Amino acid sequence: MGWVMVKLLLGVVASVAVATSAFAQSAAVKRGDYLANGVMTCANCHTPKGPPAAVAGKDYSGGLSWDTPTFAVTAPNITSEKETGIGGWTAAQIKKALIDGVRPNGVPLAPIMPSGFYAILTPSDADALVAYMQSLKPVKNKVKDPVYKAQMSMHRWPGTEKPATAADLRDKVKLGHYMVAIGHCMECHTPMVKGQPQLDKVGTGGRKFPGPWGESESRNITSHKEKGIGGWTDAQIKTAITQGKRPDGTALKGPMGYQYYATMTNEDLDAVVAYLRTVPAKE
Ligand code: HEC
Ligand code: HEC
Repeated sequence: MGWVMVKLLLGVVASVAVATSAFAQSAAVKRGDYLANGVMTCANCHTPKGPPAAVAGKDYSGGLSWDTPTFAVTAPNITSEKETGIGGWTAAQIKKALIDGVRPNGVPLAPIMPSGFYAILTPSDADALVAYMQSLKPVKNKVKDPVYKAQMSMHRWPGTEKPATAADLRDKVKLGHYMVAIGHCMECHTPMVKGQPQLDKVGTGGRKFPGPWGESESRNITSHKEKGIGGWTDAQIKTAITQGKRPDGTALKGPMGYQYYATMTNEDLDAVVAYLRTVPAKE
């Protein structure tokens, strides 16, 4: 083979490699988009809300605020804008904030950010979320600096401490557990006493959420036949999650992100239902 031929071939190999990695990158962004705007409802907190919906063109430039006895924080701008967003952070720094709840400067995030649920992310899903954040159109918007009145600490939710494996995600119930974990469903659906979840009552609801909808109270989503959703059909459970409609037709209130869950695949929703059926019946 002549030298020119070799060079030509090498050129082909190199461009295939570039095309493959560009393809892998866009597949990662797509997966990150699916997770962030679906089960993980990142935008529900990080996008500015003006009634009734999100403010157009400002996606992910900063969102809701919380004022509690231990902290006053606003969900920050997580677009790729350099000064007011996270455009200056490395991929490793973004991943650390996401999963360990710690900023590049070492300051821990208030546990409103559901990092305590995210260690279960598969390495490829964690990379996909980072790729998605890095792909977000830069929007300049400075949110108020956080105020901490106590030391922030993150607790890992039991059963979410280590990354799920590819084999886990091929098992319907384990896939459902994965989705419910990264969707931090049980954070809202488990009673809290002094900021601590009552782990012997996982899924029984009872947390109160004041908001523009008035006040809502999370409901029992255990497999209990009367108090929970054990007596509902699969279709009824999926309609509640994706449309915010109960079997009797009444509408469910916020802050649950029904419109985000509506973008989930049927396979992932079926897995969520299969997992919820395994949550021990409790009152
Ligand atoms: C329940 C609301 C909520 C959800 C859901 C949520 N976040 Fe956050 N996030 C916050 C809050 C609040 C902070 C800031 C906490 C603080 O200032 O101490 C934060 C901080 C961050 C930070 C650090 C940014 C900075 O400038 O310090 C990143 C990155 C981030 N979130 C990404 C995400 C991604 C990606 C998702 C979805 C996978 C997500 N968040 C889901 C509320 C949320
Ligand atoms: C930010 C808090 C929050 C998150 C996260 C959340 N929920 Fe909810 N959920 C609620 C509240 C509050 C209600 C009750 C609203 C009402 O009664 O108007 C509710 C209602 C429901 C209902 C209807 C139950 C009934 O008896 O009517 C189901 C089912 C449900 N949630 C499942 C889930 C699943 C599955 C997830 C995760 C994919 C999830 N929720 C995530 C707060 C949340």
